[in-house]
Amino acid sequence: MRIVHTIAELRQALAGSTHTTFVPTMGNLHEGHLSLVRLAKEHGGPVVASIFVNRLQFAPHEDFDTYPRTLERDCELLRSVGCNLVFAPSEAELYPEPQVYTVQPPAALAGILEGEFRPGFFTGVCTVVLKLFHCVQPRVAVFGKKDYQQLLVVRRMVQQLALPIEIVAGETARADDGLALSSRNGYLSETERAEAVQLSMTLKEVQLRLRRGERDLAAVESAAMDHLRQRGWQPDYVSVRRRTDLLPPTPEQLAGGEPLVVLAAARLGRTRLIDNLEL
Ligand code: PAJ
Repeated sequence: MRIVHTIAELRQALAGSTHTTFVPTMGNLHEGHLSLVRLAKEHGGPVVASIFVNRLQFAPHEDFDTYPRTLERDCELLRSVGCNLVFAPSEAELYPEPQVYTVQPPAALAGILEGEFRPGFFTGVCTVVLKLFHCVQPRVAVFGKKDYQQLLVVRRMVQQLALPIEIVAGETARADDGLALSSRNGYLSETERAEAVQLSMTLKEVQLRLRRGERDLAAVESAAMDHLRQRGWQPDYVSVRRRTDLLPPTPEQLAGGEPLVVLAAARLGRTRLIDNLEL
């Protein structure tokens, strides 16, 4: 496995490859990321993973400075799952000057849910993902369903800008108790880590209630948020949406088998966690 830090080295290493599969990450890798690399391996050609903590997608009050940077360990893990090339650019390499050309995803998709609580987040994501796509020029790129809205925002960008890249979705890897793996889980204290399972349990409860035939979505969602609040969480949203565009389903769609997903974001202490469940 080669590790390169510059765009020039990356391009040289990939010269002639037409079947590259790409897994972008911000590092501090866990089994979720590794499962995406394993999925990428199934698509043939060299597998490239990028490790870059993208300042553009962090608001000033967020955790850009403290986001864990564990390059050596990340590379060991990537090697162990058969990744071929790691692209780990410095900030000066990817943003040698302020990035003033940016990608503005549509508000209807990127201004809701995460976009409502993290303004500018998806602009930062789209801008770096498009730039990384141009550096790597993959045929396939793999994204996790853990960041469900990100996956949809990237898919739409690829479609609208006619990028010749197939976007493949990987399932969410979870700890034994159901907590979705996340680099941010490392911020949790022992007590918070034990409590954190409540987020995925809350989503399961929503699923159960809808399966039982409850049709008052607002009531189900606010009961879920109340449950979290009572346990000391500060939920941003728990929301049942259509899988295709993340808009709320109409009552007819709710009754008529429209594919749905329930998404949630909530803070536990100082850690903000997100999760979702396809219904
Ligand atoms: P990061 O949070 O490092 O995640 C990198 C990829 O791993 C994303 O596609 C994410 O959805 C996926 N992932 C995270 N946790 C997962 C889990 N438990 N199971 C399966 N997949 C999981 O997402 C980003 O970085 C950035 O926004 C990025 C796309 C790299 C742009 O900066």
